[in-house]
Amino acid sequence: MWKIPLADVHFGPEETAAVTEVLESGWLSQGPRVERFEAAFADYLGVKHAIGVANGTAALHLACLALGLGPGDEVLCPALTFVATANAIGYTGARPVFVDINGPHDLNIAAADAGGKITPRTKAVMLVHYAGFPVEMAAFQELARRHGLALIEDCAHAPGAVYYGPPGGPKVGSLGTAACFSFFANKNMTTGEGGLVATNDDQLAARVRTGRSHGMSTLTWDRHRGHSFSYDVVAPGYNYRLDEVRAGLGLVQLERLEANNARRRELTRLYRERLTVIPGLEVPFLAADPATSACHIMPILLPPGADRQACMAALKEQGIQTSVHYPPIHRFTHYQNLFPADYDHGLPHTEDAAARELTLPLYPTLTEQQVMEVAKALREYKGCSGAKVQRTE
Ligand SMILES: Cc1ncc(COP(=O)(O)O)c(C=O)c1O
Repeated sequence: MWKIPLADVHFGPEETAAVTEVLESGWLSQGPRVERFEAAFADYLGVKHAIGVANGTAALHLACLALGLGPGDEVLCPALTFVATANAIGYTGARPVFVDINGPHDLNIAAADAGGKITPRTKAVMLVHYAGFPVEMAAFQELARRHGLALIEDCAHAPGAVYYGPPGGPKVGSLGTAACFSFFANKNMTTGEGGLVATNDDQLAARVRTGRSHGMSTLTWDRHRGHSFSYDVVAPGYNYRLDEVRAGLGLVQLERLEANNARRRELTRLYRERLTVIPGLEVPFLAADPATSACHIMPILLPPGADRQACMAALKEQGIQTSVHYPPIHRFTHYQNLFPADYDHGLPHTEDAAARELTLPLYPTLTEQQVMEVAKALREYKGCSGAKVQRTE
């Protein structure tokens, strides 16, 4: 339907073989492949524990539970993220407190604003590495140290990103208290639905493991192997398990991740070259080397007052799919209902970016020609650029 879709999966015969192998094995629920996938992911990230779960939201929820978050606690997080980030905090009874982003040049959560929103009830910060670009980790580690906070990394956009100058910097997801990954269909590596919690903390890992399977002391797989005959329920828990089909896919997708990220970085560089010359358009994260990023999405900012919907429609006319990342969470009805009507979240940069952000197609099989086509469509549609801007002020 789209000539150039927003995102696309990259599967080959290896994925088909991996799924077939699981089907032929006759064992579908959490078992040996999940263990292999967890070991491979932990090794890749350079962390002690990786725990496969049903999806990224379950990963965030389990991390919050394992940290003991609950009613009366506050967790700082950005509002410019997918709603799952804040929903997972809310599942525990804790309250999300929204923190502003750095500005149009950097759409990540701002450490300075976070510092100003810490209260005696603040227990954790949920960090989203927006578009795959690492947050200013050192500043958040300092805040965490000074105020005794946990750092939960929402790495849904950032598998394979590195915190500091490449190559060889620590991988994103290895420095927080816990890091949560999503393998949803549009992510850099996918298992359809799927997720994972990574941590170096043994106790936290143990709580996540029991929490993902009803708080039970043994698994069906353990009983199948004759390792145990019964089980106890030792903690609250959910059915948040990953299955063998997804773990099989995950093992293959993890193998592809570095090459796919390298391709995303190349395409991001080409987009930058083509877009920064268009008057009025802003390209966030220009100060960051794409080599540090997982380059999950390609966000741009239209000029203030530009008609984003008209721009999206003009690109659609040419078969180019675009999207918005994100409608900010504090503007959703449910979240407005949670806070008093006159509550000011104090998020000027978030409001500005959320009103102007447009996400362009980015995926490993996108061609240079297609990137140039997208850039050309933006250049030629004057409503998108600075040439004929309708200002609302
Ligand atoms: C930033 C962010 N956080 C959390 C999630 C939730 O992941 P999932 O859809 O796997 O539950 C997503 C993805 O959808 C996301 O983009």
